[in-house]
Amino acid sequence: MKYVFLLVLLIVASAGALLAGVIAYRWLNNMTQTAKLVPGERVFSMPSGVVARGTTPIIPKEQRDVAARLPNPIKATESSLAVGKQHYQTFCVPCHGPEAKGGVTGPVATKFIPTPDLTNRDLQRQRTDGYWHSYIVAGGAVMPSYGEALSSQEAWHIVNYLRSLAQK
Ligand code: HEC
Repeated sequence: MKYVFLLVLLIVASAGALLAGVIAYRWLNNMTQTAKLVPGERVFSMPSGVVARGTTPIIPKEQRDVAARLPNPIKATESSLAVGKQHYQTFCVPCHGPEAKGGVTGPVATKFIPTPDLTNRDLQRQRTDGYWHSYIVAGGAVMPSYGEALSSQEAWHIVNYLRSLAQK
């Protein structure tokens, strides 16, 4: 009688363990097993004859020399500088610091890679507006690109703002 009881207990326990195992397994795995589209899995070709509207194509950073020759289409007016400053404060301060002085003045830069001093006179002279615009929209050696967060126009406003910070 005792053995029958133990046997039943064993069966019940193993059934319970199996059920718990199945639940745990599904809990851990079902997210990866549902139907989904992985980014980049499929490439949809553009229908022929379509033209991109309202955006500016981004020149890849490998072609920085081409991008560096683009003229700045936006005058550095007060309002341009204000827009540039606002975006600078949102996107760039964490790494470049509130005054664009670089080093570890930005809170992220203390953990990331210290940034260059963008107000530096020699750097300012060496770089064209197009070069910095390209840095913003296409990214740098390690600096991330902001081409998806900022429009090309907004990037030019930021360049104007950076120019206004140049050391005299
Ligand atoms: C995640 C940190 C980070 C953020 C955010 C960031 N940068 Fe940078 N930036 C860097 C680093 C690091 C460098 C230097 C290394 C490199 O060239 O990638 C750099 C370099 C630069 C340069 C120097 C290019 C030259 O002439 O050599 C410019 C200009 C610049 N950043 C502008 C910006 C602007 C404008 C923003 C905001 C839209 C921004 N950065 C946001 C990290 C960042």
